[in-house]
Amino acid sequence: MRAYCGEVNAGHIGREINIFGWVRRVRDLGGLIFVNIRDITGEVQCVAEPDSPYYESAKDLKTQYVVKIRGVVRKRPEDMINKDMKTGELEIVIKNLEVLNDSPTPPFLPEDKVDVSEEVRLKYRFLDLRRPKMQHNIIARSKLMKLVRDFLYEHRFLEIDTPYLTKSTPEGARDYVVPSRIHIGKFYALPQSPQLYKQVLMSAGFDRYFQIARCFRDEDLRADRQPEFTQIDLEMSFVDVDDVLNLTEDLITFLFDKLIGVKLKKPFLRLSYAESQKMYGTDKPDLRYSNKILDFTNALSNKGFRIADAIIENKGRILGIKSSKNLSRREIDSIQNELKKEGAHGLLWFKSDGRHLSGQLSKYMEGEYESGTYLLVGDEVTKVYNLAGILRNMVNYRFEEKESDFAVLWVVDFPLFEKNPDTGEIEPAHHIFTMPKEDTLKYLDSDPLRVIGKQYDLVINGIEMGSGSIRNHKKDLQIKLLNILGIDEQRIEDNFGFLLKALEFGGPPHGGIAIGFDRLLAVMLELDSIRDVIAFPKTTSAQALYEKAPDFISNKQLEELHLKIIKE
Ligand code: AMO
Repeated sequence: MRAYCGEVNAGHIGREINIFGWVRRVRDLGGLIFVNIRDITGEVQCVAEPDSPYYESAKDLKTQYVVKIRGVVRKRPEDMINKDMKTGELEIVIKNLEVLNDSPTPPFLPEDKVDVSEEVRLKYRFLDLRRPKMQHNIIARSKLMKLVRDFLYEHRFLEIDTPYLTKSTPEGARDYVVPSRIHIGKFYALPQSPQLYKQVLMSAGFDRYFQIARCFRDEDLRADRQPEFTQIDLEMSFVDVDDVLNLTEDLITFLFDKLIGVKLKKPFLRLSYAESQKMYGTDKPDLRYSNKILDFTNALSNKGFRIADAIIENKGRILGIKSSKNLSRREIDSIQNELKKEGAHGLLWFKSDGRHLSGQLSKYMEGEYESGTYLLVGDEVTKVYNLAGILRNMVNYRFEEKESDFAVLWVVDFPLFEKNPDTGEIEPAHHIFTMPKEDTLKYLDSDPLRVIGKQYDLVINGIEMGSGSIRNHKKDLQIKLLNILGIDEQRIEDNFGFLLKALEFGGPPHGGIAIGFDRLLAVMLELDSIRDVIAFPKTTSAQALYEKAPDFISNKQLEELHLKIIKE
């Protein structure tokens, strides 16, 4: 009978079992050879006694050899019990030992604690993935996928897959493209998301669609961004904002409960984009910390403080963040240096012990302040909220204690359009198919930046976890919106013709959301990088170090594709 290493239990005592796995370590203790074997479920200790015909071969085993062991399970002597190990009360007396494969000394041991760089880990990913921690992450990934499917199937969603070889979708990042061999000079684009297809599926009557969708985006990478990543992508017909938010809340609370046993409170907090900017200086506030932006503009106005007067004269504002700690000058200076890198001119500050104020600004300030250190930044209105938001995170992540493990909220009512600060052009704030809120439609011609879209973002622990909207299902209004963005008829037809046709011929009202699957899992497992929940991730320079991609292709392949490489 086969047993998994980590599942050997008291019920096996006295029985003969087979185990398969990797040698973790071999110890020679007073004539007994102990061999620890590990598989996907955990670890078990095997023992070869001196009179065993396998004594010598057990002694010769090395770490990471692959073995099959047949043996009898017995209880360990009292003084040999290992309380830290799940199978620590038992051991397997080796009756037969087969080496299925050997292994050279690995570049690092597949243990939870490794002291090699991530580069080396990615280069030897098979070994890295053999570490119990990484196996735990990948197992959790598999479980999460199943839970998503369980929930959505239960709620009448159909899982429908959409093409990878497709046409560029207007999501805003650069496309990864694939040259066509048959159609010389033409390219497929890998989907940045299944957005257009899921909308067409609504027109086709599929009512509730989902897909655990792989998306491809050629953008600058960070710890929470990969060039290919996975979304829980869903779309529903005949719904409005509340329907999508409620369903998503049910899904998210279900996943947290079933995967990590955390009960999130429903309904999730909802903040408008404007409120979120004003209170936290960002559209993805980290509400594990409760401090908000404080406005010191009035308090510092006309107090004879030249810097403040200059900022206020420029129609700027002075905003501050409170740290509950009594920060040292060094700590304040280091925050100032960091904030300058984000574009701040400087940092102002004062302290309160609950009664008295001290420090740089104290002589200009009146009134009582709760004890702590107050850090202030002043700038033009267009910049200062963002800076205060960055300052808030810096202070919180360095000095404050979080008040909860998970803080989930919705940010809603985004402006439909925004002005690109570099080009001055009007751009879609989310994507072009978002339905405007009825009561703001009247500004469409006169002041499009005042139009609010039926868009919502799901934010967890300060990370944008998901994003979606109620779509615009009316073709004429859609064309008007595209025109406001300066997209002419020809481009509309070329890029969005197929969606517009689907809307024209009986497109139902619909909306949906996509949740970043990798991000969600990383947050649930409290990991800093989504690379730790993806079996084969890319580096931040978009390389696969293990299999070595991207790579050159042969001249023959290039010729077939009618491609020529122009070297810089
Ligand atoms: P959006 O572009 O906001 O929306 O993407 C949805 C969610 O996907 C995750 N995400 C990423 N995760 C890892 N690496 C990346 N490079 C990356 N980019 C995005 C984020 C994000 O919130 N079609 C719309 C959804 C809709 O409107 O239904 C879309 O793709 O968690």
